[in-house]
Order: sequence, then structure tokens, then C-alpha cells
Amino acid sequence: MDFRFEIIKEYAPYLAQGTAYTIGLSLAGIFIGTFLGLFIGLGKMMKNKFLSWPFICYIAFFRGTPLFVQILLIHFGLVPLFTGETNPILAAILALSLNSAAYIAEIFRAGVQSIDKGQMEGARSLGLTHVQAMRYVILPQATKRMIPPLGNEFIVLIKESSIAAIIAAPELMYWSRAEAGQYFRVWEPYLTAAVIYLILTLSLSLVLNLIERKLATE
Ligand code: ARG
Repeated sequence: MDFRFEIIKEYAPYLAQGTAYTIGLSLAGIFIGTFLGLFIGLGKMMKNKFLSWPFICYIAFFRGTPLFVQILLIHFGLVPLFTGETNPILAAILALSLNSAAYIAEIFRAGVQSIDKGQMEGARSLGLTHVQAMRYVILPQATKRMIPPLGNEFIVLIKESSIAAIIAAPELMYWSRAEAGQYFRVWEPYLTAAVIYLILTLSLSLVLNLIERKLATE
């Protein structure tokens, strides 16, 4: 098997740009997804079944259908419906954010429900209202428990952003496929992509481990 390094060299600037897009798309996805996810998680936890129903449906849809399908629906359906034209970057950010919001909503709910119910009872018996008890007693503890799974979600998003190649958002996988197509080569483009994704995910999990260790000692 010959390995043509000159192809990788030729594509290096595109791969670098693609990597920047991959990081940007995942960062946007995790930030918007976290905001939306907290909101949707709160919505799902509402006692009133009538009000929580739309949130339950949202989570069921985005967790129960492939991201592949969602990104195509958003790219060719939703975005043109509102803007009159397609926009791969906007569609990719939307798809990743909306998808991860559904997962983050569940992370949030799990975090809140993992707090012993004696905490709520204790807070209420001290005279705090339900909302105050949530705000000052439950949520500070729950957010701490949410950090490790949120970090995981970020790693998942880095890998899942590769789906955006299919709608021609110029991220890492898009350029790798272009390279493979131009030279009819497999190993050079896809091994390079694998190594870059590995560097991204491994360094992120290293940082997350440090944060987790710090949180554990606090
Ligand atoms: N590949 C899965 C899908 O197509 C993963 C979805 C993204 N997962 C996540 N935790 N955001 O649905």
C-alpha cells in the first residue's frame, strides 16, 4: 500500500479550515443546545400535562429520528421555508443545536431528579417557596452533576457534526470527501480525518477529566 503524503499536503489548508468549521459548528451546537435544552427540560418537568406535552413530543422526535434525516429536513425544508434559500452552515448549526437540545433536556431532568427529595422538603420547611427552593437549593447541586454528561454531549457533537458534510457545509468531513473524490483515494483522506477527530475528542476529554476532578474535590 502506497501512502501519498503529497495529497494530504495539498489538502492541508482545506482540512485546517474544515477543522475550524467542525469546532465552530460543535461549539455553536453545544451553546445553543444547552440554552434550549434547559428550557425544554423545564418544560417537560411541568406538572400540567397539557403544557408539558409539546416538550415531550419535541424530545421524542429529536431523539427518536436519525440526525441524518433531521439535517436534510432542516436544510431543504425549514431553512428555505423561512429564508427562501438554502444555507448549509445555518442548517448544520440548527440541526446540531435542536438535536442536542433534546438530549440536554434529558440530562437536565436527570440532574434535577437525581437530587434527593429531602433537599426540596428541607428547603420548603425552612420557608422557601417552590421556585426559591429550585433556584437556591436544587439547581446549584443539579448543575454540578450535569457538567460531566454535558461534556460528553460536546464530544458527541464534534463527531456528529460530520453529518453536515452531506449538505455541503465545509467542515472536516466535507473536505475529506472532496479529497477522496478528486484522487480516488481512501486511506489518505479518511485516516487524516480520523486522526484529527481523535485529537479533538481526546484533548477535550482530557480537559473534561480535569474539570471533573476539580469538581469532585470541591
Ligand atoms: N447518530 C445519532 C443519530 O443519528 C446520534 C444523535 C446525536 N446524539 C446526541 N447525543 N446529540 O441520531
